[in-house]
Amino acid sequence: MKDVIIACDFSSKQQTLEFLNKFHDQKPFVKIGMELFYAEGPEIVRELKRRGHRIFLDLKLHDIPNTVKKSMAVLSNLNVNMTNVHAAGTIEMMKAAIEGLTKPDGSRPILLAVTQLTSTSESRMQSELLINASINDTIVHYAQNARTAGLDGVVCSPLEAGMVKKACGNKFITVTPGIRFADNDTADQVRITTPAKAREIGTDFIVVGRPITTAANPQDAYLRCCTEFIK
Ligand code: C5P
Repeated sequence: MKDVIIACDFSSKQQTLEFLNKFHDQKPFVKIGMELFYAEGPEIVRELKRRGHRIFLDLKLHDIPNTVKKSMAVLSNLNVNMTNVHAAGTIEMMKAAIEGLTKPDGSRPILLAVTQLTSTSESRMQSELLINASINDTIVHYAQNARTAGLDGVVCSPLEAGMVKKACGNKFITVTPGIRFADNDTADQVRITTPAKAREIGTDFIVVGRPITTAANPQDAYLRCCTEFIK
């Protein structure tokens, strides 16, 4: 089940395909986020699927339950492997997301919840969002809500994966960005860890962007991630 997901944070199909062509016959699991999806639309998903990639469609839906349900029904036709919503949309919204995503035969992609974005600090969460709990308690509580709604797991920082697993059970999936090699520049990420440490923590998937996308040899960087994380 453990895998490395490459964040394809590009703004065009051309850039994305130029990057993925460097992997030749290898077909990494890739993440398509808002930037690429809004630039190219659903066709980019179809194209990467045709090329044999598994896809995490990272669109973080957050709206009224009826809208989320209907939107998820549309996304369901793209047959991605993983997608997500904001847990802040409530348990009712997350249940609606599952209903929309589930096909008549009962199958559906892995559905994850975003708890608190890693860009939200505890002080901003408390002063601007008026959430009085600690950020860790909030993350665990949102993860428990996602589990109650029937979701499969959460996106969280690697440093939060352990406490989520403890609260929600080991089978509850954690997908963790914020990965850097020990000898890498950290860029704008703050709560980071290495692929090897992520394996020790027990997270299920790591999402790796710039350490692979900006590497001199992306294929080598990807293989290094796989070796450190999966071995
Ligand atoms: O380049 P880098 O490895 O930092 O990319 C991490 C990816 O994970 C980006 O696509 C970023 O948007 C995403 N992400 C994140 N932190 C979150 C949720 C998603 O870094 N909490």
